[in-house]
Amino acid sequence: MSTPSQTFDSMWRDLMPVGRDATSGGYRRFAWTRQDHTLREWFAAEAARRGLDLTVDRVGNQWAWWGDPDAALAAGRPGIVTGSHLDSVPDGGAFDGPLGVVSAFAALDALRANGFEPDRPIGIVNFVDEEGARFGVACAGSRVLTGAMTADRARSLTDADGVSMAEALAAAGRSAEELGPDSETVRRVGAFVELHVEQGRHLSLPEVDQPLAVGSDIWPHGRWRVRTLGEANHAGTTRLEDREDAMLGFAAAVIAARRAAEQHGCVATVGKVAVTPGGVNAIPSEVTGWLDARGADEDAVRAVVAAVTEVVEEFGGLVVEDSWTGSTPFDPGLARRLATRLGGIPVIGTGAGHDAGILANAGVPTAMLFVRNPTGISHSPEEFATSEDCLLGVEALTDVLTDLAGAHS
Ligand code: GLV
Ligand code: MN
Ligand code: MN
Repeated sequence: MSTPSQTFDSMWRDLMPVGRDATSGGYRRFAWTRQDHTLREWFAAEAARRGLDLTVDRVGNQWAWWGDPDAALAAGRPGIVTGSHLDSVPDGGAFDGPLGVVSAFAALDALRANGFEPDRPIGIVNFVDEEGARFGVACAGSRVLTGAMTADRARSLTDADGVSMAEALAAAGRSAEELGPDSETVRRVGAFVELHVEQGRHLSLPEVDQPLAVGSDIWPHGRWRVRTLGEANHAGTTRLEDREDAMLGFAAAVIAARRAAEQHGCVATVGKVAVTPGGVNAIPSEVTGWLDARGADEDAVRAVVAAVTEVVEEFGGLVVEDSWTGSTPFDPGLARRLATRLGGIPVIGTGAGHDAGILANAGVPTAMLFVRNPTGISHSPEEFATSEDCLLGVEALTDVLTDLAGAHS
């Protein structure tokens, strides 16, 4: 029989090449692309290898069940679900998402190797489009699932090539009409525990130095589309005083975001920009950029966006909200239970968004487990976790599932 380390390593090796860019070493795994299809097939094969029942909800999220979630629900003992996502940001790291899915399968293997007989079904989920790298809205899979984003809005989101999510779904062989909230699926989830690589360096601080932590909450965060307009013209023959350069208003907005973030104790990022017509020797007629703003305090984040909006409007531009997730506490009782069960490990908050946050806001008892990332870097190929820490994560998840799905849960 394989050890958890062997099953973990073999799954990790299978996933390693999928969507990896040879030049940057980063991952490009975007929703409803060929790479995503390969990852979904991998998930289905891992479920089948273990004799788990695979279901796909109305959004396309994949669920692999050990036990019958509907019979258990009828008996008042809904399932315990773990897992995460397999998609990535552009040139993302290997761990953000896949660590949670691979650890979930490895933990299930360990439970079986231990002879554990669950008293509730255990589910493993692969949430689709967590990063929103293609269509702009993060956690699209869990948002539509829980009704936090309407199906109409999701269908109409477009990628950088103008392909709508509806078209992308059709190209991937799914019906865009089917897309919608799926309360039947959500009801099956009695509790959700997402294991995730840490995306900062808190656990690596010398005074902390811990391999694992439990999540307490997610900062309020959102994404806004910033659009400034001008007039396309020749870069050499148009006098400065005759120009209407969309880039000037946009640049002012970026500086305003940074200043306001400093002033209000938040973080603000503009990491994606589209310039029209996009010529080196053409004055921009339109700039669209995506502002990501987060902070511990909702009003402070709103103040940052208001400051940016004021500047953009001075230039005749527009700021439109793409998504907003307010302050999201995880279930405090569940967090305490996990932290105690795991020997009093730290409980920490995070500035990163997760499907776990969307489920928590939908009323599902939810917890997160973080695995130390010694580089402290994430959304980059530098993201890392040692094999030892990953296996400690699997062990902790196995322990937590034993507790939550056991006879006395
Ligand atoms: C997801 O990783 C996010 O925090 O944007
Ligand atoms: Mn991420
Ligand atoms: Mn993630």
